[in-house]
Amino acid sequence: MTTSGIKVAIVTGGGHGIGRALCRRLANDGALVIVADIDEPAASVVADEIGGVARLLDVSDERAIARLVEDIEDAHGPIDMFISNAGVGYGDGSSGAISTEGGMNPVDDRWDACWKINVMAHVYAARALVPRMLARGEGHLVNIASAAGLLSQIGDAAYSATKHAAVGFAESLAINYGDQGLAVSVVCPQAVATRMIGIEDDSDSMDGGFGGNAVDGVMPPNAVADIVIDQALAGRFLILTHPEVATYVQRKASDHDRWISGMQRFRREISQDESPA
Ligand SMILES: NC(=O)c1ccc[n+]([C@@H]2O[C@H](COP(=O)([O-])OP(=O)(O)OC[C@H]3O[C@@H](n4cnc5c(N)ncnc54)[C@H](O)[C@@H]3O)[C@@H](O)[C@H]2O)c1
Repeated sequence: MTTSGIKVAIVTGGGHGIGRALCRRLANDGALVIVADIDEPAASVVADEIGGVARLLDVSDERAIARLVEDIEDAHGPIDMFISNAGVGYGDGSSGAISTEGGMNPVDDRWDACWKINVMAHVYAARALVPRMLARGEGHLVNIASAAGLLSQIGDAAYSATKHAAVGFAESLAINYGDQGLAVSVVCPQAVATRMIGIEDDSDSMDGGFGGNAVDGVMPPNAVADIVIDQALAGRFLILTHPEVATYVQRKASDHDRWISGMQRFRREISQDESPA
């Protein structure tokens, strides 16, 4: 018996950070959680803790996602919720959005990884699951994007561009299939205390930094996970874990040019903070 109605859930990138917190919350509600991660040892630790199932998964491999979905449904029944949480960001080089620092090939490899992991993995999960969910008349895809997908991540053009694409893809899913029983949620957090912003799992510190910049409003992963699951279960499409993001999005929509000027000013301030004293 589960308190949420979710019996079987898969969380990609469940070995660390936000994914791990989502696994814990879903298991706490009574779901069987499949902890899927490219870091298999980390997935095993989480699965052992919550009584779930660990699976090695590289989300950039479409066949691996299709195989995982098939195996899990054969063994445990319908997947009620699939959370595409795994994500990566590498930061621009020293010359910003068009940086070729380190050489074109490594830079393009990083752009490719962002496209595959931050965007195409969501497409692969949807291809594997939407037909099954539509046939059942129910199922929930939860895609973790970022506030960078609505606004911008200063210092990471590839992350910003691909997170925008992730939001756009979730919108297409909801518009295409939402009236046929598919539930879709897209999550757009600001800073969360994980390794992505330089904070180790289980650290009490909220003092991370994108490249040493102070980050405001850092939330702990468990608080983020609770908001995500509560709002997803309530049927919400756009989940903003940090309420101030709604205000920033409204400002951007009401005057895009003014918003760009504000972001340029913010970027200059950050650069000054970084310059040696
Ligand atoms: N931490 C933040 O401030 C923040 C803010 C907004 C959005 N997000 C998003 O939240 C999601 C989770 O990030 P996090 O902060 O928990 O980071 P994290 O680095 O702590 O965890 C990411 C997890 O994804 C796994 N992973 C990476 N590549 C993978 C792949 N190819 N296949 C399978 N698993 C893979 C990692 O092993 C790790 O367990 C990401 O999509 C990230 O972009 C994070």
